[in-house]
Amino acid sequence: MRLQSVLLWIFCFSSVLAVKEYLFKNCDNSGFCHRNKHYANQIKSLGSAFVPHYAIDPSSVHLQESGQDFHIAGTIIKKVPNIPDLQVELPITVSLLEGNNVRVQIDESGRNQITVKNKYVNHRRYNETGQWAFASEELPYISKKDVKLDISSDKLSFTYGPAQEYTAELQFLPVKLTISYKDEPQVVVNDQNFLNLEHWRVRDANAEHLSDEQVDFDMFTDSFGDSKEDKLPLGPESIGLDFTFKNYKNLYGIPEHADSLNLKDTTGSNQPYRLFNVDIFEYETDSRLPMYGAIPLLLAVRPELSVGLFWINSADTFVDLDKNSDSGDSRTHWISENGVIDFMIIVDKTPAAINKNYGLITGYVQLPPLFSLGYHQCRWNYNDEKDVLEINSLMDKHRIPYDTIWLDIEYTDSKKYFTWQNDVFPDPEGMMKELDATGRNLVVIIDPHIKTGYPVSDQFRKQKICINDATNTSYLGHCWPGESVWIDTLNPNAQALWDSQFVWDKKNKFTGGLSTNLHIWNDMNEPSVFNGPETTSPRDNLHYGGWEHRSVHNIYGLSYHEATYNSLKKRQSHTTRERPFILTRSYYSGSQRTAAMWTGDNMSKWEYLQISLPMVLTSNIVGMPFAGADVGGFFGNPSKELLTRWYQAGIWYPFFRAHAHIDSRRREPWVAGEPYTSIMTDAVKLRYSLLPMLYTAFYESSVSGIPIMKPVFYEALDNLESYSIEDQFFVGNSGLLVKPVVEKEADDIEIYLPDSEVYYDFTNGNITGDITKFQLNKPGYVKRAVTLNDIPVFLKGGSIIAQKNRYRRSSKLMVNDPYTLIVAPDSNGNANGKLYIDDGESFGYTKGLSAKVSSIDVNYVGSLSSIEIEKIVIISQPQSQINKLIIHNPKLKVAADWSATFATDVEHDEL
Ligand code: NOJ
Repeated sequence: MRLQSVLLWIFCFSSVLAVKEYLFKNCDNSGFCHRNKHYANQIKSLGSAFVPHYAIDPSSVHLQESGQDFHIAGTIIKKVPNIPDLQVELPITVSLLEGNNVRVQIDESGRNQITVKNKYVNHRRYNETGQWAFASEELPYISKKDVKLDISSDKLSFTYGPAQEYTAELQFLPVKLTISYKDEPQVVVNDQNFLNLEHWRVRDANAEHLSDEQVDFDMFTDSFGDSKEDKLPLGPESIGLDFTFKNYKNLYGIPEHADSLNLKDTTGSNQPYRLFNVDIFEYETDSRLPMYGAIPLLLAVRPELSVGLFWINSADTFVDLDKNSDSGDSRTHWISENGVIDFMIIVDKTPAAINKNYGLITGYVQLPPLFSLGYHQCRWNYNDEKDVLEINSLMDKHRIPYDTIWLDIEYTDSKKYFTWQNDVFPDPEGMMKELDATGRNLVVIIDPHIKTGYPVSDQFRKQKICINDATNTSYLGHCWPGESVWIDTLNPNAQALWDSQFVWDKKNKFTGGLSTNLHIWNDMNEPSVFNGPETTSPRDNLHYGGWEHRSVHNIYGLSYHEATYNSLKKRQSHTTRERPFILTRSYYSGSQRTAAMWTGDNMSKWEYLQISLPMVLTSNIVGMPFAGADVGGFFGNPSKELLTRWYQAGIWYPFFRAHAHIDSRRREPWVAGEPYTSIMTDAVKLRYSLLPMLYTAFYESSVSGIPIMKPVFYEALDNLESYSIEDQFFVGNSGLLVKPVVEKEADDIEIYLPDSEVYYDFTNGNITGDITKFQLNKPGYVKRAVTLNDIPVFLKGGSIIAQKNRYRRSSKLMVNDPYTLIVAPDSNGNANGKLYIDDGESFGYTKGLSAKVSSIDVNYVGSLSSIEIEKIVIISQPQSQINKLIIHNPKLKVAADWSATFATDVEHDEL
């Protein structure tokens, strides 16, 4: 009896701690993916016997005039073998944009004429994903005069790029697009003939519309678990297309997955990578299952060239990767539930250039307020005002710098957002003021589900700005507050009502009157619906414009956090604190413009600390660099060692926040006791001392898309071994190479030096005592002993790092502190670096309040130009006897233009 109950308990415990995979679709049981995969398998087995169904009508091809822009338009004809008279017309447009972006859009004609039972549903194929993903309505199309175009009866081609070295060639039968660099094909679209666009048909006639290669699995119904209610009013609408990357074996991107940096082959037992934003409860590592966000950008990288493929679609999407072909190519198959076919292909020299070019379209990370790069202290929940203020003062007692304390859902009255639980938060304004006194901020959570039966949801329902069910009335589902409605932030009318909740006037208790240190956390915005299929909104729910939820699912989270950002931006015109900070759980391409993200509900286990590195790296290389993972792990109670190691790794996440589940024990750094508390404190202090470097990395990313946590291969493209390194990284362009300790009881680490440059041991950010230098003749590993105290960091020769070394309670209080420069010469004795400075909170920098000086590039604003450099530490060159040289008080102001040359053969004394 006793044994039985123990076994039962173990069983329950393990089932609690595993993702409930059966709640989520996979390719086999998902109608549209199953059908496309079947189609692809049939085509593969037919080989050359397959007769393609799609061809471009040569007589349709023409240049589409629209100002100076470059667009080629035409029509693809889809033949339906069993209905010889039917020709499905699929208009195709090929355009060229700045940054080598070749865009292709394929739609379906005649959708306006069809009739469906549900009169509220928009019949068209959804084509507005780009409007949410792109930074601007005006896309940077290339002018016709910069392109050499050639159209013949069976193909067209155009060349582009500064030296016209890129060519796009569109073959008409079978439809095939090849993008080449110097005549060498890089990407071939529809190389395998998997192009498939399920055209409109009525259910009764469906059989005739199918070709021999197709199956009719779940075309008009959904047989999966909780999805059976889906009415699928428009029947099958899926799209599928293959892309072959010629001679590329290393693929990256398409987050969010708890998986390796270098993407896995999915042809064997692995399921395809799925992009479908879901509240993936207790996710597992090494998984292709979908997660909270989706960025459909894939990077293919090799030493000489890189390719970016941006699949502009917000519906449920599967991506199959075949990396095993003998040819050395990678073959990929993209399958989405509906929408138009819309994609961009970018070929350029380096992955950094792909980041830059992709950012020209979707925007770069917005320069965040400086405070948000500091340490964030969160848990579910800090219970009341006293709790918050106590944590605030304990941080000071332990001399731990921090910038922001967070409140999770319990601060509200019964999970009614925009309210406070009055008995425990009687004076939010006073609390915010007290935090503000030491430059600290408050972030509170606001989710998109709005409890029914209180003024906010009543007003939203009355104004018809909620997501609707298939009958076009406000959809009711369940989330934290119980029965709820969801604001439809795709509805332009929603913004004003959302703004009115955040009004910044003396009367608004929620915002604390005029408090300007309040910022917002948007959670559960996949959206998470506890009683919905796959824990999200039913797909036949309706949004503004009659669009079904299935079409817009992956952009809902983006639309929601963007609305919050816009509301916050409207405040505080009377202060300089203009830059809002928003954290979002769900995201899409373009989210980087207005929010930071984190990797959701991880666990207090070593493998989650380990997987956080490739996950944050992946986010960085797809243009969403302001990313982090819950430090300490969300579920469970980390050992003291794990927590300490997590802090030491977490200080390198661009977004650095400790967070914990409501059932976990308190674990602020002082709870563990010594030596852990001091070690964690030192880690946080290291983050703060490096804030000038980190802020500079953010600035650079905000104008070029360069990752902030940057994979090693970005600096070692010639070195193929570096392409799979995912447990160490560079920090922006600073030259810092970090290898956090993420193994239990480690007493040494092996760090990979990707080139033969000199690397200085900068462990714990200290240049003390004798400096160890490492330099290998060829790339390889070096071993270094570590203790629990150690955060292994190396500084690449040729770099200059700016630090601020005084302890302050928050980043705001560091503003006037002087800088220390660490100069690390390369093998030739040269070093250079960059430092970006502004006021850290206003939009002044966008109005030209900045300047640059050389050697160390400095951007400064007003009074900041008077800040001094108090110390310059120059590490000696590799061959030299001198260990380091310290120049105290060099009397330099950061805005002054200066450079210094030091001879290598002089004696220490002379210097
Ligand atoms: C889910 C989020 O992922 C988690 O961070 C948060 O604490 C809970 N929701 C409660 O709001």
